[in-house]
Amino acid sequence: MEKPRVFVTREVFQEALELLSKYYEVEVWDKYQPPPYDTLLSKAREADALYTLLTDRIDCNLLKQSPRLRIVAQMAVGFDNIDVKCATSLGIYVTNTPGVLTEATAEFTWALILAAARRVVEADHFVRWGEWWRLKTGWHPMMMLGLELRGKTLGVLGMGRIGSRVAEIGKAFGMKIIYHSRSRKPDIEEKIGAEYRSLENLLRESDILSIHLPLTEETRHLIGEKELKQMKRTAILVNTGRGAIVDTEALVKALREGWIAAAALDVFEEEPLNPNHPLTAFKNVVLAPHAASATRETRLRMAMMAAENLAAFAQGKVPPNLVNK
Ligand code: DGY
Repeated sequence: MEKPRVFVTREVFQEALELLSKYYEVEVWDKYQPPPYDTLLSKAREADALYTLLTDRIDCNLLKQSPRLRIVAQMAVGFDNIDVKCATSLGIYVTNTPGVLTEATAEFTWALILAAARRVVEADHFVRWGEWWRLKTGWHPMMMLGLELRGKTLGVLGMGRIGSRVAEIGKAFGMKIIYHSRSRKPDIEEKIGAEYRSLENLLRESDILSIHLPLTEETRHLIGEKELKQMKRTAILVNTGRGAIVDTEALVKALREGWIAAAALDVFEEEPLNPNHPLTAFKNVVLAPHAASATRETRLRMAMMAAENLAAFAQGKVPPNLVNK
């Protein structure tokens, strides 16, 4: 019997491709860049399954033009690039990779928090590009002063798996933990003494505000001018969720006019970020290329989980990580 066809939109770990090839005829897009939309459209038309990344736009137009398509397996926990409602109405399964990237993302969030609070990138540039040498200061009591974390308040916006782990680590730093989320989390309140706040109070009280929300119609531009103005002038905004949760123009204004002290960003409204973007000009902004889950261990687990969802489907089972409602 002919195997069903899967189109894999980027080169992933060999282990995942091997698993897929047991059940599918596998075609892999082997370029470093994502397939252009038209290519994706023509590949999807011929495919029974898609193995996608968050850079692939899987909209209703594409889904409707793909008569054979039965499942889209995303190698990411977020799936805002996929029109899940449309897929569901067409009887197409959509799966994601929850849980396996919690540690890597939480660890990277802390790398960003520490980098911004202790000016690590700025310090590196200061040494590397000769400013320290030119100033001939050696150790100076007022040089590179940053923010100490112990006793400060960490505000977690979105207390899901990743937010909870970030909060736990914050507790270990001796921080007070407050949070705002769609629902209260009694377990994490009990475990680390995290306190629930309204969004406004979260913004007003946080020294570090860390965003861990999915991107939805409700969360798009949730943090705009009004919200940034409610934050402390000494606060640091950290985003490893999705870029569009923050209104970028408002953030640039906030940094320019000193409404907040600093930002650390792994995600952007438009990715990749143009190197001429105003955000790249601020010394007090740490930037990363949407890399929070980028450890070898995690990316392998994500790749396998997406493949396992497809393998389960090919064996007539309901894939374990469905996101259709
Ligand atoms: C996700 O999985 O949604 C992250 O943004 C990338 O790992």
